[in-house]
Amino acid sequence: MEEKDIFAVLDIELEKVRSLEGSMSIVVIPMKYADKALGYKREVDTAVRYKEYLVVGLFGMEADQASALFLSIPKGIAVYPYDGKDIQALFFEATGRLQEMGSAPWVKRLWDSIKETKAMERLEDPESRFISASFYQFLALLASRPHDLARISADMNEMDRHWVKDYLPHGLAQSLDNDTCSQGEQVTDLLQEWQYKERMELKQEKGKKTLRKFRNIEHFFTLPSISQEIIDLASDVLLAASKMARIIEKDPVLTSRVLKVVNSAFYGFHRQIDSVEHAIVILGNDEVVNLAFSIAIHKILETISAPHAQRLWEHSLLVAHLSQWLGPLMGYKFKDKIYTVGLLHDFGKIVFLQRGHFISDTGNPSSLEDLAKEEMDSGLSHAEMGAYIAERWNLPSGIVDALLCHHLPGKAKDTALAVTVHLADIIAHTGSIHMDMVNNAAIRFLSERKGPALSAEMVSKAYQETLSRVKLVLEVQDGT
Ligand SMILES: [Fe+2]
Ligand SMILES: [Fe+2]
Repeated sequence: MEEKDIFAVLDIELEKVRSLEGSMSIVVIPMKYADKALGYKREVDTAVRYKEYLVVGLFGMEADQASALFLSIPKGIAVYPYDGKDIQALFFEATGRLQEMGSAPWVKRLWDSIKETKAMERLEDPESRFISASFYQFLALLASRPHDLARISADMNEMDRHWVKDYLPHGLAQSLDNDTCSQGEQVTDLLQEWQYKERMELKQEKGKKTLRKFRNIEHFFTLPSISQEIIDLASDVLLAASKMARIIEKDPVLTSRVLKVVNSAFYGFHRQIDSVEHAIVILGNDEVVNLAFSIAIHKILETISAPHAQRLWEHSLLVAHLSQWLGPLMGYKFKDKIYTVGLLHDFGKIVFLQRGHFISDTGNPSSLEDLAKEEMDSGLSHAEMGAYIAERWNLPSGIVDALLCHHLPGKAKDTALAVTVHLADIIAHTGSIHMDMVNNAAIRFLSERKGPALSAEMVSKAYQETLSRVKLVLEVQDGT
């Protein structure tokens, strides 16, 4: 096909777009990917072969949408009207971009599509935000093939390599630095063979189904009413002790449990504390609110089998208390959120457990493989499920975000909060900070953080102390 033919065909399309005052993307794709690209093209689009390229005109599309449409295909994109007014200028712009890019930038865009949830947020249903929040299947595939991962990484510039690593456990991220071979084509083959786009679609489909199935189960999504009031209280720092006490005392069972814990060896007071107001005066608002909230929320665990509930509850309390200790060391200033995030971080597992879905072993920190398995089984991980529930409970968006990112702290809006809970989770499971298990973004945060160093001795001491204190709370609770 001659040069003037392609320009003639696309010029007609561009004329239509121009008259509608719309936009149009011109995508230039190497011929070897033409069959695949034609499979993804929409009916409304025009495709023309030109020399070693397939040139596609996409109506009403911006660059990011066009990029998402041909996700795993190397391409150059130019957009009317930003990149030029006529078809020749657009074509040369797009071809130039394709040649400039080589193979690495499309891999970057692939990562971008995992990192960014923008495309999904455009979808109408609110659940999509949680389903697309991460893509552990893909991370686990790459983790199981470090050589391929090294190839992707080697193709990238320094900055891009940083954020790819932010998704991985530190041990794996470190191993990337040792491999320098660079063969972008093989990465293309890997992704094609693994069918990235299809799998992503399948995950989203499954995730939506799971959430729709659970959406109407009221008891999951109705926070015990007293907990809702307690959460509201937590944000009101000036609330008088008497008013707060009155709200807690509306529930006599809750009140008696709060007083039992307050009078237990956990707090070690010699004098009997006989009212919630008295407890607030002695312990402070935050402590009593946290305590009342955990006792109220414990009800939700009654929906799963006792051994699971017990293990999850002990772990949740441990992470909540360790987070409270760790937060200030990580430079996190807001005490009210940190306990709640620690307590609820794995609550997504309750839903999966109740319905017989796969969840990662509650006794170990979740690995990428575990999270990928959860995703394959339900379309979403327990972190995504937990965040979804928290949003349905109308918890503050900072809490929802931290729950969503407790295994990928680099993605969180508030890194200090997500890193704190991520580290507390690993400490709660292992008694120390296992550098290989910690997410690389968290390690980077630790190395850039200015503040007191976190020694192994400090961590181990805090773990032992917190564990024995949590055991005291559990003893009191079991006795009620
Ligand atoms: Fe988790
Ligand atoms: Fe956990």
